[in-house]
Amino acid sequence: MECTHNLVIWVSLICVLFLHQCTSQSPARELDSLLQDYAYRAFLHPHTGIIYTGQVPANLTGISISALRLRSGSLRKRGFPTYMQFDIPVGVIVQPYVERLVLVYQNLGNWTSDYYPLTGFTYLTPIIGLLAYDAANLSGTNLPELDFVASESPISIDFGNLTTSAAGTDPKCVWFDLNGVAQFRDLVSSNKCETYRRGHFAIAVNTSGISPSPAPSGPTHHKKISSKAWKIIGGAVGGLVVLVLLSMLICCIVRYRREKKVKEMERQSEAGEALHFARVGGAQAPVALGTRTQPVLENEYTAAGLS
Ligand SMILES: *[C@@H]1O[C@H](CO)[C@@H](O)[C@H](O)[C@H]1NC(C)=O
Ligand SMILES: *[C@@H]1O[C@H](CO)[C@@H](O)[C@H](O)[C@H]1NC(C)=O
Ligand SMILES: *[C@@H]1O[C@H](CO)[C@@H](O)[C@H](O)[C@H]1NC(C)=O
Ligand SMILES: *[C@@H]1O[C@H](CO)[C@@H](O)[C@H](O)[C@H]1NC(C)=O
Ligand SMILES: *[C@@H]1O[C@H](CO)[C@@H](O)[C@H](O)[C@H]1NC(C)=O
Repeated sequence: MECTHNLVIWVSLICVLFLHQCTSQSPARELDSLLQDYAYRAFLHPHTGIIYTGQVPANLTGISISALRLRSGSLRKRGFPTYMQFDIPVGVIVQPYVERLVLVYQNLGNWTSDYYPLTGFTYLTPIIGLLAYDAANLSGTNLPELDFVASESPISIDFGNLTTSAAGTDPKCVWFDLNGVAQFRDLVSSNKCETYRRGHFAIAVNTSGISPSPAPSGPTHHKKISSKAWKIIGGAVGGLVVLVLLSMLICCIVRYRREKKVKEMERQSEAGEALHFARVGGAQAPVALGTRTQPVLENEYTAAGLS
């Protein structure tokens, strides 16, 4: 049937589009995955509770990483008072449960704005990240992040010396969750922030009201605009395709129901009922003479063939 044939084509097209959307990760997420791999490489003769410093590939010089393996029971009961800039209190629960986990610390250094661009804000510190992974396979790559939550008191983050900024009037803690969505919180002291969850953190100051767009020109800026434009175009095309698919589906359902109805009437006709054929809406359909109302096909009340 021509209808289902078209449907198959549209469905496969949409699957390809969505697959592309799902598999194309943001640069920051790709970086997380790469840094997980490189942080795990620091575990040569791994002991639990020891902080190992990782080596990043040469093309990412300026980023520093560390890895710390812990039993999740120990993390929960004892916390880990000083993991780089993070002070991890007791009561941190890892989800889903694993026996041992690795806490990967990242400091993006001078790559901060490349991976976490924040328009209207100026970073006063580099982005630092705290992510958790299962420690079951220390040569594992592309591992999914584990969730964790500080159930008793928050994890505190000490940013040390801030970049002094003339414009800086009201610095904020910035938290990026893994979807890359930025959320703003107040500082707990001049250089400390708090978090209950995993993610990437920094202190930044809102400069959108102060300097009218510092205009970071150059290729990265254009790339950002065009990628935004592509997202909009992609969204529009996606919407259109879904619309087309939906109408195809409705068309198929209508046709299917129509055919089913005709088949049912044919079956009754073969069963020996005295039927009289009348032209209904251009399709030949059997009708029981006089005793029933004529079958009228959906959306075809106006068809000229009715008599
Ligand atoms: C950096 O190098 C690593 C290993 O050579 C590679 O996997 C990665 O894609 C590179 N990343 C960037 C951002 O160039
Ligand atoms: C960061 O600094 C290192 C040298 O310390 C340099 O190799 C690298 O290109 C810099 N990264 C960026 C994004 O400027
Ligand atoms: C650990 O991960 C590596 C890389 O993904 C894989 O090749 C290896 O089979 C895994 N080992 C175990 C024991 O699952
Ligand atoms: C912070 O600043 C002080 C004084 O300017 C300096 O002595 C110290 O080394 C700095 N600390 C770090 C971690 O950069
Ligand atoms: C930053 O400041 C501008 C102007 O003062 C304001 O409109 C904007 O809402 C602020 N942004 C955030 C995220 O607070």
